[in-house]
Amino acid sequence: MSLLEVTDLRVSFPTPDGVVRAVRGVSFEVDRGRTLGIVGESGSGKSVTTQTLMRLTPGARVSGSALFEGADLLTLGDRAMRALRGAEIGMIFQDPLSSLHPLYKVGRQIEEMVRAHDRGASRTQARKRAVEMLGLVGIPQPARRADEYPHQFSGGMRQRAMIAMALALNPKLIIADEPTTALDATVQAQILDLMRRLQGEFDTALIMITHDLGVIADMADDVLVMYGGRPAERGGRRSAYYRQHHPYTKGLLESVPSAAGGRRRLKPIPGQPPSLINLPSGCVFHPRCPYVMDRCRTEDPPLAPVADDPAHVSACWLPDEALGRGDDAEALRRRAVEDGRTGAAARPPGTSDTGAADTTVLGETGVPAEYEEPRGVPGGLGGEPRERPGWEPGGRREAGGRGGGGRETGGPGGGGPGEEPGTGWTRADGGGE
Ligand SMILES: Nc1ncnc2c1ncn2[C@@H]1O[C@H](COP(=O)(O)OP(=O)(O)OP(=O)(O)O)[C@@H](O)[C@H]1O
Ligand code: SF4
Ligand SMILES: [Mg+2]
Repeated sequence: MSLLEVTDLRVSFPTPDGVVRAVRGVSFEVDRGRTLGIVGESGSGKSVTTQTLMRLTPGARVSGSALFEGADLLTLGDRAMRALRGAEIGMIFQDPLSSLHPLYKVGRQIEEMVRAHDRGASRTQARKRAVEMLGLVGIPQPARRADEYPHQFSGGMRQRAMIAMALALNPKLIIADEPTTALDATVQAQILDLMRRLQGEFDTALIMITHDLGVIADMADDVLVMYGGRPAERGGRRSAYYRQHHPYTKGLLESVPSAAGGRRRLKPIPGQPPSLINLPSGCVFHPRCPYVMDRCRTEDPPLAPVADDPAHVSACWLPDEALGRGDDAEALRRRAVEDGRTGAAARPPGTSDTGAADTTVLGETGVPAEYEEPRGVPGGLGGEPRERPGWEPGGRREAGGRGGGGRETGGPGGGGPGEEPGTGWTRADGGGE
């Protein structure tokens, strides 16, 4: 059993404007000593997911389960939860000032936390532990600094103090929510290095939330890509970087300099994240997707395994084999789009029937103009059409299988959102090739 097993987590907030469906069917596991990176644009539900695990989303409607060493964090009694927070699960928040009390000295706050969980610890022992932890996270002169207030610390030092506090009780799991976003690159690198070192030393499991794919590349073993409150793709780090299936993951990689690397042209993802009150129909990414097909506008793709790796799942109707950013994968996508676009998807932009604005401007080849490569570029979207190696267009499959993947779902629409690998999917014809 994994240290933490989250299954079909759903979180919504009733508001005067409507129900905000912030998290819509998130599942993942984290083992001891492993790091899960959660990545996605602002508002994709990263913080709400982890705050809900810590029961820090009052007023929210929550369903699903989150087993931590077998105990469900979502239903555990308040007292048991308080005992667990800090001691078993440490949290480093997005904004350190919001969790360091401004009127208490930094060292004192760590001492109090130690004593709250370890009633046998004397004040002197707790003080010793606080100074030791501040030293461990690289605060110079920790004994003196322990007697300072948070406002006397720099931003980087406050982050370090937060990490010291999160680690003081040697928790089994640390949840770090954008722990380095506000810091300059040098301090960021130092802090990430520190977390890696401490994780190795204590075999701690780590959930690292970030919108920085460079951080994911450095730290994560597994990656969960969130879009519009649900997983778009999940898999090992190598899958996310070299064999990504979902166009959103691909878009994220192409829109950051560090991940795109070299002389590759950066391509921002066009459009805005969806409203979580009025979600687009079908695939929630479809108003922004350069590969949108007819069915994407009406049928919500379930999270399902891609290619030959059962641990790599993606919620997208493109063919299973369309992995990574190579020419062959791009040709597969292009064919799927050609075959999967008829009346509705071929409509001019701005006439979407989903209520969400079409934000993409299509180029000559039917993908957004900014994605279009110059004509004649080998494998580029504007290049000459290639011969089809017997690929069967999946966009028109009645049974709802993913294009070219040779799969069929238990029913139209593929079983609905949040479906997990192995449920409702059967191999139909051995690959459709
Ligand atoms: N208490 C609340 N009431 C209503 N809506 C909320 C509440 N908390 C969060 N939300 C909404 O839930 C959605 C997800 O928010 P969340 O904080 O998880 O985003 P995020 O992925 O962490 O983004 P960021 O990268 O900006 O931190 C947002 O649309 C947010 O406005
Ligand atoms: S299902 Fe369709 S719209 Fe959604 S990401 Fe895949 S290709 Fe794009
Ligand atoms: Mg957040």
